[in-house]
Amino acid sequence: RLLIIDFGSQVTQLIARRLREQNVFCEILPYQIVTDDVLAEMAPKAVILSGGPDSVTREGSPRAPESLWTMGIPVLGICYGQQVMMEQLGGKVLGGKNTGGGGTAEFGRAYVTPTEERIDLLAGWFLGEKEQAWMSHGDHVAKLAPGFKVYGTSPNAPFAVTADLERNFYAVQFHPEVHHTPNGPTLFENFVRLAGFTGDWTMEAYKDIAIEKIREQVGDKQVICALSGGVDSSVAAALLHEAVGDQLTCVFVDHGLLRLNEADEVVAMFRDHMNLKVIHADEVDLFLGELEGQSDPETKRKIIGRLFIDVFQKYANEIEGAEFLAQGTLYPDVIESVSFSGGPSVTIKSHHNVGGLPEKMGLKLVEPLRELFKDEVRALGHELGLPSSFIGRHPFPGPGLAIRCPGEITREKLEILRKADAVYIDQIRRHGLYDEIWQAFVAILPVRTVGVMGDGRTYDFACALRAVTSVDGMTADYYPFSHEFLGETATRIINEVPGINRVTYDITSKPPGTIEWE
Ligand code: XMP
Repeated sequence: RLLIIDFGSQVTQLIARRLREQNVFCEILPYQIVTDDVLAEMAPKAVILSGGPDSVTREGSPRAPESLWTMGIPVLGICYGQQVMMEQLGGKVLGGKNTGGGGTAEFGRAYVTPTEERIDLLAGWFLGEKEQAWMSHGDHVAKLAPGFKVYGTSPNAPFAVTADLERNFYAVQFHPEVHHTPNGPTLFENFVRLAGFTGDWTMEAYKDIAIEKIREQVGDKQVICALSGGVDSSVAAALLHEAVGDQLTCVFVDHGLLRLNEADEVVAMFRDHMNLKVIHADEVDLFLGELEGQSDPETKRKIIGRLFIDVFQKYANEIEGAEFLAQGTLYPDVIESVSFSGGPSVTIKSHHNVGGLPEKMGLKLVEPLRELFKDEVRALGHELGLPSSFIGRHPFPGPGLAIRCPGEITREKLEILRKADAVYIDQIRRHGLYDEIWQAFVAILPVRTVGVMGDGRTYDFACALRAVTSVDGMTADYYPFSHEFLGETATRIINEVPGINRVTYDITSKPPGTIEWE
Protein backbone atom coordinates (compact mmCIF):
# COMPACT_ATOMS: atom_id res chain seq x y z
CA ARG A 1 0.00 0.00 0.00
CA LEU A 2 0.86 3.65 -0.23
CA LEU A 3 0.99 5.75 2.91
CA ILE A 4 -0.03 9.41 2.93
CA ILE A 5 1.39 11.27 5.90
CA ASP A 6 -1.03 14.07 6.70
CA PHE A 7 0.45 17.36 7.83
CA GLY A 8 -2.99 18.91 8.12
CA SER A 9 -3.71 20.20 4.62
CA GLN A 10 -7.34 20.90 3.80
CA VAL A 11 -7.00 18.80 0.67
CA THR A 12 -5.20 15.68 1.85
CA GLN A 13 -8.28 13.60 1.08
CA LEU A 14 -8.00 14.67 -2.52
CA ILE A 15 -4.61 12.95 -2.71
CA ALA A 16 -6.32 9.75 -1.61
CA ARG A 17 -9.02 10.34 -4.14
CA ARG A 18 -6.47 10.74 -6.97
CA LEU A 19 -4.80 7.49 -5.91
CA ARG A 20 -8.05 5.56 -5.72
CA GLU A 21 -8.72 6.75 -9.26
CA GLN A 22 -5.48 4.98 -10.21
CA ASN A 23 -6.74 1.88 -8.38
CA VAL A 24 -4.01 2.17 -5.79
CA PHE A 25 -4.65 1.32 -2.16
CA CYS A 26 -3.61 4.09 0.16
CA GLU A 27 -4.02 5.05 3.76
CA ILE A 28 -3.90 8.49 5.34
CA LEU A 29 -2.33 8.80 8.77
CA PRO A 30 -1.79 12.01 10.73
CA TYR A 31 1.90 12.77 11.12
CA GLN A 32 1.76 12.48 14.92
CA ILE A 33 1.14 8.78 14.87
CA VAL A 34 3.60 7.90 12.12
CA THR A 35 6.61 7.01 14.22
CA ASP A 36 9.60 4.99 13.02
CA ASP A 37 7.98 1.88 14.48
CA VAL A 38 4.64 2.47 12.77
CA LEU A 39 6.41 3.05 9.50
CA ALA A 40 8.44 -0.14 9.85
CA GLU A 41 5.36 -2.15 10.68
CA MET A 42 3.30 -0.74 7.83
CA ALA A 43 6.13 -1.20 5.35
CA PRO A 44 4.48 0.98 2.70
CA LYS A 45 5.61 0.66 -0.89
CA ALA A 46 5.70 4.44 -1.26
CA VAL A 47 4.95 7.53 0.81
CA ILE A 48 3.35 10.86 -0.01
CA LEU A 49 3.86 13.80 2.33
CA SER A 50 0.87 16.14 2.28
CA GLY A 51 0.74 19.88 2.48
CA GLY A 52 0.02 21.60 5.76
CA PRO A 53 -0.53 24.99 7.35
CA ASP A 54 2.57 25.12 9.52
CA SER A 55 5.98 26.49 8.64
CA VAL A 56 8.97 24.18 8.76
CA THR A 57 10.98 27.23 9.90
CA ARG A 58 9.04 27.19 13.16
CA GLU A 59 10.68 25.27 15.93
CA GLY A 60 8.78 22.15 16.84
CA SER A 61 6.88 22.08 13.54
CA PRO A 62 5.90 18.65 12.16
CA ARG A 63 8.46 16.35 10.53
CA ALA A 64 8.47 12.96 8.86
CA PRO A 65 10.02 10.09 10.82
CA GLU A 66 13.79 9.94 10.19
CA SER A 67 13.69 6.32 9.08
CA LEU A 68 11.59 7.28 6.06
CA TRP A 69 14.70 8.56 4.30
CA THR A 70 16.55 5.26 4.50
CA MET A 71 13.77 2.81 3.65
CA GLY A 72 14.65 2.87 -0.02
CA ILE A 73 11.09 3.61 -1.12
CA PRO A 74 9.82 6.40 -3.39
CA VAL A 75 8.65 9.52 -1.57
CA LEU A 76 6.65 12.42 -2.99
CA GLY A 77 6.48 15.65 -1.01
CA ILE A 78 3.74 18.15 -1.76
CA CYS A 79 4.01 21.79 -0.64
CA TYR A 80 4.68 21.53 3.11
CA GLY A 81 5.78 17.96 2.35
CA GLN A 82 8.36 19.32 -0.06
CA GLN A 83 9.66 21.67 2.56
CA VAL A 84 9.84 18.95 5.19
CA MET A 85 11.85 16.90 2.75
CA MET A 86 14.31 19.69 2.00
CA GLU A 87 14.70 20.65 5.63
CA GLN A 88 15.27 17.10 6.84
CA LEU A 89 17.63 16.17 4.03
CA GLY A 90 19.91 19.16 4.39
CA GLY A 91 18.36 21.89 2.23
CA LYS A 92 17.09 25.27 3.35
CA VAL A 93 13.57 26.67 3.60
CA LEU A 94 12.85 30.34 4.10
CA GLY A 95 9.74 31.68 5.74
CA GLY A 96 7.39 33.86 3.71
CA LYS A 97 5.96 37.19 4.71
CA ASN A 98 3.81 35.66 7.42
CA THR A 99 6.75 34.10 9.16
CA GLY A 100 9.02 37.07 8.80
CA GLY A 101 11.41 35.38 6.38
CA GLY A 102 10.88 37.89 3.62
CA GLY A 103 10.30 35.17 1.04
CA THR A 104 7.78 35.32 -1.74
CA ALA A 105 4.40 33.85 -1.00
CA GLU A 106 2.40 32.45 -3.88
CA PHE A 107 -1.28 31.68 -3.88
CA GLY A 108 -3.45 30.57 -6.74
CA ARG A 109 -2.77 29.79 -10.38
CA ALA A 110 0.83 29.59 -11.54
CA TYR A 111 2.55 28.20 -14.59
CA VAL A 112 5.32 25.67 -14.30
CA THR A 113 7.94 25.51 -17.05
CA PRO A 114 10.03 22.38 -17.49
CA THR A 115 13.79 22.34 -17.50
CA GLU A 116 15.54 20.69 -20.40
CA GLU A 117 15.96 17.37 -18.67
CA ARG A 118 12.65 15.52 -18.39
CA ILE A 119 11.95 12.95 -15.71
CA ASP A 120 9.48 10.08 -15.58
CA LEU A 121 7.41 11.82 -12.92
CA LEU A 122 6.57 14.51 -15.46
CA ALA A 123 5.99 12.22 -18.45
CA GLY A 124 2.97 13.54 -20.30
CA TRP A 125 2.50 16.31 -17.75
CA PHE A 126 3.71 19.21 -19.85
CA LEU A 127 1.29 19.26 -22.70
CA GLY A 128 2.47 22.66 -23.87
CA GLU A 129 5.46 24.77 -22.98
CA LYS A 130 4.18 25.31 -19.50
CA GLU A 131 1.55 23.73 -17.34
CA GLN A 132 -0.98 25.26 -14.99
CA ALA A 133 -0.53 24.37 -11.33
CA TRP A 134 -2.15 25.53 -8.11
CA MET A 135 0.12 27.12 -5.55
CA SER A 136 -0.64 27.87 -1.95
CA HIS A 137 2.45 28.52 0.08
CA GLY A 138 3.99 31.17 2.25
CA ASP A 139 7.41 29.57 2.68
CA HIS A 140 9.67 28.49 -0.10
CA VAL A 141 12.71 26.34 -0.63
CA ALA A 142 15.86 28.47 -0.83
CA LYS A 143 18.47 25.75 -1.16
CA LEU A 144 18.02 22.21 -2.39
CA ALA A 145 19.07 19.25 -0.31
CA PRO A 146 22.14 17.41 -1.62
CA GLY A 147 21.31 15.04 -4.46
CA PHE A 148 18.31 17.07 -5.68
CA LYS A 149 17.98 18.84 -9.01
CA VAL A 150 15.32 21.16 -10.40
CA TYR A 151 13.01 19.88 -13.15
CA GLY A 152 10.36 22.57 -13.24
CA THR A 153 10.14 26.23 -12.24
CA SER A 154 7.47 28.84 -11.78
CA PRO A 155 7.95 32.62 -11.56
CA ASN A 156 7.73 32.61 -7.77
CA ALA A 157 8.90 29.07 -7.07
CA PRO A 158 12.22 28.36 -8.76
CA PHE A 159 12.04 24.90 -7.20
CA ALA A 160 8.52 24.02 -8.35
CA VAL A 161 9.51 20.44 -9.24
CA THR A 162 12.63 18.86 -7.80
CA ALA A 163 13.87 15.33 -7.45
CA ASP A 164 16.69 13.12 -6.29
CA LEU A 165 16.41 10.42 -8.93
CA GLU A 166 18.99 8.22 -7.26
CA ARG A 167 16.86 7.85 -4.15
CA ASN A 168 13.46 8.21 -5.86
CA PHE A 169 12.56 11.30 -3.86
CA TYR A 170 10.27 13.80 -5.58
CA ALA A 171 9.06 17.14 -4.34
CA VAL A 172 6.63 19.65 -5.79
CA GLN A 173 5.78 23.07 -4.46
CA PHE A 174 2.28 23.11 -5.95
CA HIS A 175 -0.77 20.95 -5.26
CA PRO A 176 -1.18 18.33 -7.99
CA GLU A 177 -4.20 16.88 -6.16
CA VAL A 178 -6.53 19.82 -6.69
CA HIS A 179 -8.80 20.48 -9.61
CA HIS A 180 -6.95 23.68 -10.50
CA THR A 181 -3.91 21.65 -11.42
CA PRO A 182 -5.71 20.21 -14.43
CA ASN A 183 -3.08 17.69 -15.37
CA GLY A 184 -2.37 16.69 -11.77
CA PRO A 185 -3.71 13.13 -12.13
CA THR A 186 -0.94 12.42 -14.66
CA LEU A 187 1.66 13.24 -12.05
CA PHE A 188 0.10 10.82 -9.57
CA GLU A 189 -0.19 8.19 -12.24
CA ASN A 190 3.52 8.55 -13.02
CA PHE A 191 4.43 8.41 -9.34
CA VAL A 192 2.51 5.23 -8.61
CA ARG A 193 3.84 3.54 -11.74
CA LEU A 194 7.41 4.33 -10.86
CA ALA A 195 6.70 3.10 -7.33
CA GLY A 196 5.68 -0.24 -8.85
CA PHE A 197 1.92 -0.18 -8.25
CA THR A 198 0.00 -2.11 -10.86
CA GLY A 199 -3.36 -0.46 -10.26
CA ASP A 200 -5.27 -3.59 -9.33
CA TRP A 201 -6.97 -2.13 -6.27
CA THR A 202 -10.75 -2.07 -6.51
CA MET A 203 -13.86 -0.87 -4.74
CA GLU A 204 -14.40 -4.50 -3.75
CA ALA A 205 -11.15 -4.43 -1.83
CA TYR A 206 -12.12 -1.07 -0.33
CA LYS A 207 -15.34 -2.65 0.86
CA ASP A 208 -13.49 -5.45 2.63
CA ILE A 209 -11.22 -3.03 4.45
CA ALA A 210 -14.13 -0.77 5.40
CA ILE A 211 -15.92 -3.80 6.84
CA GLU A 212 -12.86 -4.75 8.87
CA LYS A 213 -12.64 -1.21 10.26
CA ILE A 214 -16.31 -1.20 11.25
CA ARG A 215 -15.93 -4.52 13.03
CA GLU A 216 -12.94 -3.21 14.91
CA GLN A 217 -14.78 -0.07 15.97
CA VAL A 218 -18.13 -1.60 16.85
CA GLY A 219 -17.08 -4.94 18.35
CA ASP A 220 -20.15 -6.78 19.61
CA LYS A 221 -22.16 -3.61 20.34
CA GLN A 222 -25.50 -2.60 18.83
CA VAL A 223 -25.72 0.02 16.09
CA ILE A 224 -28.69 2.10 15.02
CA CYS A 225 -29.08 3.96 11.78
CA ALA A 226 -31.63 6.41 10.42
CA LEU A 227 -32.46 5.05 6.99
CA SER A 228 -33.89 7.73 4.72
CA GLY A 229 -33.88 5.82 1.47
CA GLY A 230 -31.34 8.26 0.07
CA VAL A 231 -28.17 6.92 -1.50
CA ASP A 232 -25.83 7.79 1.37
CA SER A 233 -27.78 6.31 4.26
CA SER A 234 -28.69 3.30 2.14
CA VAL A 235 -25.09 2.51 1.27
CA ALA A 236 -24.01 3.11 4.86
CA ALA A 237 -26.71 0.74 6.12
CA ALA A 238 -25.87 -1.94 3.58
CA LEU A 239 -22.18 -1.74 4.47
CA LEU A 240 -22.87 -1.83 8.21
CA HIS A 241 -25.10 -4.83 7.67
CA GLU A 242 -22.34 -6.72 5.88
CA ALA A 243 -19.99 -5.85 8.70
CA VAL A 244 -22.06 -6.51 11.80
CA GLY A 245 -25.22 -8.23 10.56
CA ASP A 246 -28.03 -8.22 13.08
CA GLN A 247 -26.23 -5.88 15.44
CA LEU A 248 -27.60 -3.18 13.13
CA THR A 249 -31.15 -1.88 13.41
CA CYS A 250 -32.40 0.73 10.97
CA VAL A 251 -35.16 3.16 11.74
CA PHE A 252 -37.07 4.37 8.71
CA VAL A 253 -39.18 7.38 9.65
CA ASP A 254 -42.21 7.85 7.42
CA HIS A 255 -43.23 11.46 7.91
CA GLY A 256 -45.85 11.40 5.20
CA LEU A 257 -43.73 13.64 3.01
CA LEU A 258 -42.23 10.93 0.85
CA ARG A 259 -42.68 10.32 -2.84
CA LEU A 260 -45.21 7.92 -4.37
CA ASN A 261 -44.77 4.38 -2.94
CA GLU A 262 -41.39 5.37 -1.52
CA ALA A 263 -41.90 4.13 2.03
CA ASP A 264 -43.06 0.68 0.93
CA GLU A 265 -40.31 0.37 -1.66
CA VAL A 266 -37.49 1.30 0.71
CA VAL A 267 -38.72 -0.93 3.50
CA ALA A 268 -39.34 -3.84 1.12
CA MET A 269 -35.90 -3.55 -0.37
CA PHE A 270 -33.99 -3.40 2.89
CA ARG A 271 -36.14 -5.69 4.97
CA ASP A 272 -37.25 -8.34 2.49
CA HIS A 273 -34.60 -8.20 -0.17
CA MET A 274 -31.52 -7.47 1.92
CA ASN A 275 -32.60 -8.89 5.26
CA LEU A 276 -31.85 -5.87 7.38
CA LYS A 277 -33.69 -5.25 10.63
CA VAL A 278 -35.83 -2.25 9.73
CA ILE A 279 -38.28 -0.52 12.01
CA HIS A 280 -40.91 1.20 9.88
CA ALA A 281 -41.91 4.18 11.99
CA ASP A 282 -45.26 5.24 10.55
CA GLU A 283 -45.63 8.69 12.03
CA VAL A 284 -47.57 10.29 9.19
CA ASP A 285 -50.39 11.50 11.42
CA LEU A 286 -48.02 13.05 13.92
CA PHE A 287 -46.06 15.04 11.32
CA LEU A 288 -49.00 16.14 9.19
CA GLY A 289 -50.97 16.98 12.33
CA GLU A 290 -48.29 19.30 13.63
CA LEU A 291 -47.77 20.84 10.21
CA GLU A 292 -51.44 21.68 9.84
CA GLY A 293 -52.03 25.39 9.34
CA GLN A 294 -48.30 26.17 9.06
CA SER A 295 -47.16 28.03 5.99
CA ASP A 296 -43.89 29.68 6.97
CA PRO A 297 -40.97 27.78 5.39
CA GLU A 298 -38.66 27.99 8.39
CA THR A 299 -41.40 26.99 10.82
CA LYS A 300 -42.23 24.00 8.69
CA ARG A 301 -38.60 22.92 8.55
CA LYS A 302 -38.17 23.34 12.29
CA ILE A 303 -41.26 21.30 13.09
CA ILE A 304 -40.08 18.48 10.85
CA GLY A 305 -36.54 18.57 12.26
CA ARG A 306 -37.75 18.51 15.86
CA LEU A 307 -40.28 15.73 15.32
CA PHE A 308 -37.75 13.70 13.43
CA ILE A 309 -35.38 13.75 16.35
CA ASP A 310 -38.16 12.93 18.83
CA VAL A 311 -39.41 10.05 16.76
CA PHE A 312 -35.99 8.66 16.04
CA GLN A 313 -35.12 8.83 19.69
CA LYS A 314 -38.33 7.11 20.71
CA TYR A 315 -37.70 4.14 18.45
CA ALA A 316 -33.99 4.05 19.19
CA ASN A 317 -34.65 3.88 22.90
CA GLU A 318 -36.48 0.64 22.34
CA ILE A 319 -33.39 -0.94 20.86
CA GLU A 320 -31.57 -2.39 23.77
CA GLY A 321 -27.94 -1.56 24.30
CA ALA A 322 -27.47 0.68 21.27
CA GLU A 323 -24.06 2.32 21.56
CA PHE A 324 -23.41 3.50 18.05
CA LEU A 325 -25.20 5.69 15.57
CA ALA A 326 -24.30 5.11 11.93
CA GLN A 327 -24.36 8.04 9.55
CA GLY A 328 -23.77 8.32 5.85
CA THR A 329 -21.55 11.38 6.12
CA LEU A 330 -19.50 11.85 2.96
CA TYR A 331 -16.16 13.52 2.57
CA PRO A 332 -17.62 16.77 1.20
CA ASP A 333 -19.64 16.96 4.45
CA VAL A 334 -16.49 16.75 6.48
CA ILE A 335 -14.86 20.05 7.17
CA GLU A 336 -11.28 19.63 8.05
CA SER A 337 -9.99 22.05 10.57
CA VAL A 338 -6.52 22.10 11.83
CA SER A 339 -5.35 23.00 15.27
CA PHE A 340 -1.73 22.51 15.88
CA SER A 341 -2.06 22.39 19.61
CA GLY A 342 -3.76 19.07 19.16
CA GLY A 343 -2.62 18.26 15.66
CA PRO A 344 -4.79 17.95 12.58
CA SER A 345 -8.32 17.42 13.75
CA VAL A 346 -11.60 17.03 12.05
CA THR A 347 -14.92 18.57 12.87
CA ILE A 348 -18.10 17.34 11.35
CA LYS A 349 -20.83 19.30 9.76
CA SER A 350 -23.74 17.69 11.49
CA HIS A 351 -26.15 15.83 9.29
CA HIS A 352 -29.38 17.69 8.78
CA ASN A 353 -31.62 14.97 10.08
CA VAL A 354 -29.85 13.74 13.16
CA GLY A 355 -27.73 16.74 14.11
CA GLY A 356 -27.13 16.87 17.84
CA LEU A 357 -28.56 13.41 18.39
CA PRO A 358 -25.36 11.52 19.17
CA GLU A 359 -24.47 13.81 22.08
CA LYS A 360 -28.02 13.90 23.35
CA MET A 361 -28.34 10.15 23.35
CA GLY A 362 -24.78 9.41 24.40
CA LEU A 363 -24.09 7.56 21.18
CA LYS A 364 -20.78 7.13 19.41
CA LEU A 365 -20.66 7.77 15.67
CA VAL A 366 -19.83 5.28 12.93
CA GLU A 367 -19.27 7.05 9.63
CA PRO A 368 -17.99 4.47 7.18
CA LEU A 369 -18.33 6.73 4.12
CA ARG A 370 -16.47 9.74 5.38
CA GLU A 371 -13.50 9.19 3.08
CA LEU A 372 -15.62 8.91 -0.03
CA PHE A 373 -17.08 11.17 -2.66
CA LYS A 374 -20.57 10.72 -4.05
CA ASP A 375 -19.56 8.78 -7.13
CA GLU A 376 -17.40 6.48 -5.01
CA VAL A 377 -20.34 5.89 -2.66
CA ARG A 378 -22.36 4.86 -5.68
CA ALA A 379 -19.61 2.47 -6.74
CA LEU A 380 -19.53 1.01 -3.25
CA GLY A 381 -23.31 0.65 -3.25
CA HIS A 382 -22.99 -1.26 -6.49
CA GLU A 383 -20.40 -3.52 -4.88
CA LEU A 384 -22.82 -4.15 -2.00
CA GLY A 385 -25.48 -5.31 -4.40
CA LEU A 386 -27.83 -2.34 -4.26
CA PRO A 387 -29.78 -2.04 -7.54
CA SER A 388 -28.43 0.58 -9.96
CA SER A 389 -31.83 2.22 -10.26
CA PHE A 390 -31.59 2.88 -6.55
CA ILE A 391 -27.98 4.00 -6.42
CA GLY A 392 -28.43 6.49 -9.23
CA ARG A 393 -31.42 8.24 -7.71
CA HIS A 394 -31.58 12.01 -7.52
CA PRO A 395 -30.97 13.53 -4.07
CA PHE A 396 -34.06 13.95 -1.93
CA PRO A 397 -34.14 16.46 0.93
CA GLY A 398 -34.75 15.46 4.54
CA PRO A 399 -37.94 17.56 4.88
CA GLY A 400 -39.21 15.83 1.75
CA LEU A 401 -42.23 17.09 -0.12
CA ALA A 402 -42.86 19.73 2.55
CA ILE A 403 -40.43 22.07 0.84
CA ARG A 404 -42.03 21.39 -2.54
CA CYS A 405 -45.40 22.43 -1.28
CA PRO A 406 -45.09 26.17 -0.58
CA GLY A 407 -47.66 27.45 1.87
CA GLU A 408 -49.84 25.20 3.90
CA ILE A 409 -49.44 21.45 3.55
CA THR A 410 -52.58 19.38 3.18
CA ARG A 411 -53.07 15.71 2.47
CA GLU A 412 -54.94 16.62 -0.69
CA LYS A 413 -52.04 18.67 -2.01
CA LEU A 414 -49.52 15.99 -1.11
CA GLU A 415 -51.46 13.38 -2.97
CA ILE A 416 -51.68 15.52 -6.09
CA LEU A 417 -48.01 16.39 -5.83
CA ARG A 418 -46.98 12.73 -5.55
CA LYS A 419 -48.90 11.78 -8.66
CA ALA A 420 -47.63 14.71 -10.70
CA ASP A 421 -44.05 14.03 -9.60
CA ALA A 422 -44.34 10.38 -10.59
CA VAL A 423 -45.56 11.30 -14.08
CA TYR A 424 -42.80 13.89 -14.51
CA ILE A 425 -40.04 11.48 -13.44
CA ASP A 426 -41.50 8.81 -15.68
CA GLN A 427 -41.33 11.26 -18.60
CA ILE A 428 -37.72 12.05 -17.81
CA ARG A 429 -36.80 8.38 -17.64
CA ARG A 430 -38.67 7.55 -20.83
CA HIS A 431 -36.71 10.24 -22.65
CA GLY A 432 -33.45 8.91 -21.24
CA LEU A 433 -32.66 12.16 -19.44
CA TYR A 434 -32.64 11.03 -15.82
CA ASP A 435 -28.89 10.63 -15.44
CA GLU A 436 -28.12 13.95 -17.11
CA ILE A 437 -30.11 15.78 -14.47
CA TRP A 438 -28.91 16.42 -10.92
CA GLN A 439 -32.39 16.71 -9.51
CA ALA A 440 -35.90 16.93 -10.91
CA PHE A 441 -39.20 17.28 -9.13
CA VAL A 442 -42.60 18.92 -9.16
CA ALA A 443 -43.63 21.68 -6.77
CA ILE A 444 -47.32 22.24 -6.19
CA LEU A 445 -48.16 25.92 -6.06
CA PRO A 446 -50.43 27.43 -3.42
CA VAL A 447 -52.72 28.82 -6.05
CA ARG A 448 -55.68 27.59 -8.04
CA THR A 449 -56.27 28.81 -11.53
CA VAL A 450 -59.11 28.57 -13.99
CA GLY A 451 -58.96 26.23 -16.94
CA VAL A 452 -61.20 24.51 -19.40
CA MET A 453 -61.36 20.78 -19.94
CA GLY A 454 -63.86 19.24 -22.28
CA ASP A 455 -66.80 21.54 -22.04
CA GLY A 456 -66.33 22.33 -18.42
CA ARG A 457 -64.59 24.95 -16.38
CA THR A 458 -61.87 23.76 -13.99
CA TYR A 459 -60.49 25.50 -10.97
CA ASP A 460 -57.44 23.49 -9.89
CA PHE A 461 -53.89 23.79 -8.66
CA ALA A 462 -50.98 24.98 -10.75
CA CYS A 463 -47.65 23.20 -10.48
CA ALA A 464 -44.08 23.96 -11.40
CA LEU A 465 -41.61 21.52 -12.89
CA ARG A 466 -38.03 21.85 -11.71
CA ALA A 467 -34.95 20.20 -13.22
CA VAL A 468 -31.39 21.33 -12.65
CA THR A 469 -27.87 20.37 -13.51
CA SER A 470 -25.27 20.74 -10.80
CA VAL A 471 -22.02 19.26 -9.56
CA ASP A 472 -22.56 19.55 -5.84
CA GLY A 473 -25.91 21.24 -5.29
CA MET A 474 -24.21 24.50 -4.33
CA THR A 475 -24.81 26.12 -7.67
CA ALA A 476 -27.19 24.94 -10.33
CA ASP A 477 -28.61 25.73 -13.73
CA TYR A 478 -32.01 24.82 -15.10
CA TYR A 479 -32.08 21.93 -17.51
CA PRO A 480 -32.77 22.95 -21.12
CA PHE A 481 -35.61 20.59 -21.99
CA SER A 482 -36.95 20.78 -25.51
CA HIS A 483 -40.32 22.49 -25.96
CA GLU A 484 -41.60 19.19 -27.24
CA PHE A 485 -40.70 17.45 -24.02
CA LEU A 486 -42.22 20.19 -21.91
CA GLY A 487 -45.43 20.23 -23.93
CA GLU A 488 -45.82 16.46 -23.79
CA THR A 489 -45.15 16.41 -20.04
CA ALA A 490 -47.65 19.19 -19.33
CA THR A 491 -50.29 17.35 -21.30
CA ARG A 492 -49.63 14.09 -19.48
CA ILE A 493 -49.73 15.69 -16.03
CA ILE A 494 -52.97 17.52 -16.70
CA ASN A 495 -54.58 14.43 -18.21
CA GLU A 496 -53.35 11.95 -15.64
CA VAL A 497 -53.40 13.92 -12.41
CA PRO A 498 -56.76 15.11 -11.15
CA GLY A 499 -56.40 18.40 -9.29
CA ILE A 500 -53.86 20.04 -11.64
CA ASN A 501 -54.89 22.11 -14.61
CA ARG A 502 -51.79 24.22 -15.25
CA VAL A 503 -48.10 23.37 -15.59
CA THR A 504 -45.18 25.81 -15.57
CA TYR A 505 -41.44 25.29 -15.95
CA ASP A 506 -39.07 26.92 -13.47
CA ILE A 507 -36.08 28.39 -15.33
CA THR A 508 -34.34 29.99 -12.35
CA SER A 509 -30.70 29.14 -11.76
CA LYS A 510 -29.05 28.92 -8.34
CA PRO A 511 -28.12 31.56 -7.34
CA PRO A 512 -30.31 33.58 -7.22
CA GLY A 513 -32.90 30.83 -6.69
CA THR A 514 -32.44 27.71 -4.62
CA ILE A 515 -33.05 24.27 -6.03
CA GLU A 516 -35.96 23.53 -3.73
CA TRP A 517 -38.86 25.97 -3.45
CA GLU A 518 -38.53 26.49 0.29
P1 XMP B 1 -31.30 24.23 -2.10
O1 XMP B 1 -32.78 24.19 -2.16
O2 XMP B 1 -30.79 24.81 -0.82
O3 XMP B 1 -30.85 22.69 -2.08
O4 XMP B 1 -30.68 24.83 -3.30
C1 XMP B 1 -29.56 22.21 -2.33
C2 XMP B 1 -29.59 20.69 -2.23
O5 XMP B 1 -29.82 20.32 -0.88
C3 XMP B 1 -31.04 19.59 -0.76
N1 XMP B 1 -31.70 20.04 0.47
C4 XMP B 1 -31.72 19.34 1.61
N2 XMP B 1 -31.26 18.11 1.89
N3 XMP B 1 -32.08 18.34 4.10
C5 XMP B 1 -31.46 17.61 3.15
O6 XMP B 1 -31.09 16.46 3.42
C6 XMP B 1 -32.56 19.58 3.88
O7 XMP B 1 -33.10 20.22 4.77
C7 XMP B 1 -32.38 20.10 2.56
N4 XMP B 1 -32.73 21.27 1.97
C8 XMP B 1 -32.30 21.21 0.70
C9 XMP B 1 -31.82 19.89 -2.01
O8 XMP B 1 -32.71 18.85 -2.33
C10 XMP B 1 -30.71 20.06 -3.02
O9 XMP B 1 -30.25 18.80 -3.49
